Amino acid sequence: MNELGQGPSRNDLAGAFDLFVQASQALEKQHAALALKVDALSADLVKANGRLNTLLDALPAAVILVEEGRVTHLNPAAAALLPGLVSQSPWSIPTDWTAGEGPNEYHFMVGERRQTVQLQQIVHPEGSVIQIQDITDNLRMLEESERVDRLAAMGKMSAAIAHQLRTPLSTALLYASHLCNPDLAKDDQIDFASRLQSQLLNLNKLAGNMLQFIRARPQKTSIVALDDLVREACESLEALQQQRQVSLTLDLQAADCQVSVERASMVAALVGIMENALQVCSEGQTILVSTQADHLRANITIDDNGPGIDPQMLQSLFDPFATNRISGTGLGLAIARNTIRSHRGDIQARNRNEGGASFTVVLPSLSSL
Ligand SMILES: Nc1ncnc2c1ncn2[C@@H]1O[C@H](COP(=O)(O)OP(=O)(O)O)[C@@H](O)[C@H]1O
Ligand SMILES: [Mg+2]
Repeated sequence: MNELGQGPSRNDLAGAFDLFVQASQALEKQHAALALKVDALSADLVKANGRLNTLLDALPAAVILVEEGRVTHLNPAAAALLPGLVSQSPWSIPTDWTAGEGPNEYHFMVGERRQTVQLQQIVHPEGSVIQIQDITDNLRMLEESERVDRLAAMGKMSAAIAHQLRTPLSTALLYASHLCNPDLAKDDQIDFASRLQSQLLNLNKLAGNMLQFIRARPQKTSIVALDDLVREACESLEALQQQRQVSLTLDLQAADCQVSVERASMVAALVGIMENALQVCSEGQTILVSTQADHLRANITIDDNGPGIDPQMLQSLFDPFATNRISGTGLGLAIARNTIRSHRGDIQARNRNEGGASFTVVLPSLSSL
């Protein structure tokens, strides 16, 4: 409006128009600059995507991206590992995969060959990244190096084996030579024959133990509750426990923990450790077997208040033939450690400050995905 209350003058309109033109030119410039920036960013994004894809394609591990339960991307390693899997397939762990010994480990067969993979899942709100690593060759190398170690140990053991075998063998030979005497009385014949038999049984047991010691990996694993393993081991020692008048207490705190083990050999390993404790404890002494577990590890502790481990034995406790018992073979703990290690676990021994020995067995526990 001008001063006279009339409509806008020509000059006013021309000024406003100029302003409008200037503003739209500035906006156009800004828009052009933004468009350039968007183009540059899009090109960068394409490049980054290309680099990411090259990286994913080059990765030896299988990588699968899953959104809302469906596969949205899989790299060539994943396609090779899971031939049926394509983009948009629903994702789930293949039904022919069985749980392995370690956390997130699975076994499956490819022809005659057993493959082992380790699966890791990273969950994001927008989707999950699943990475599957083939660890078959790593495990095989580990096994091979353990086998070489065992063979070297076997070499060192030769002298000890000869020593172990010599006494029962020469006793057996002596009984056999008596039996060859045609004038031997019937009663003596039976006596020598049964003594010969018991020596041969001892030798057979020793040979069995030595074979057990050099056996490599668990043959047939199953999923077992940790506490059940401990209960089973304790039950099989009931007779010895009553005979020794030693009390055996259980403190089982791993109700939900499961482990993948060859049941019989793992129970035998625990029996070997507890049997020693029963043998060294005197009447009235106690053994406490406890379990605890988290999502990674399962622990079994066997504490006793017996005489403790002879300090001279501590270094060689788990070596084959390390014994200070007259009737001992020194194979119990050697076999136990082999069994436990072949299940990717470990065993430690120490003397307790309050007296007595403490053995701790650690096994990988099965954590659900
Ligand atoms: N709980 C324990 N307390 C004290 N010493 C132990 C205990 N467990 C094992 N030992 C020692 O470890 C040695 C080796 O045990 P092991 O390998 O089972 O062989 P063995 O029982 O035939 O002697 C035993 O001879 C003993 O000296
Ligand atoms: Mg023993």
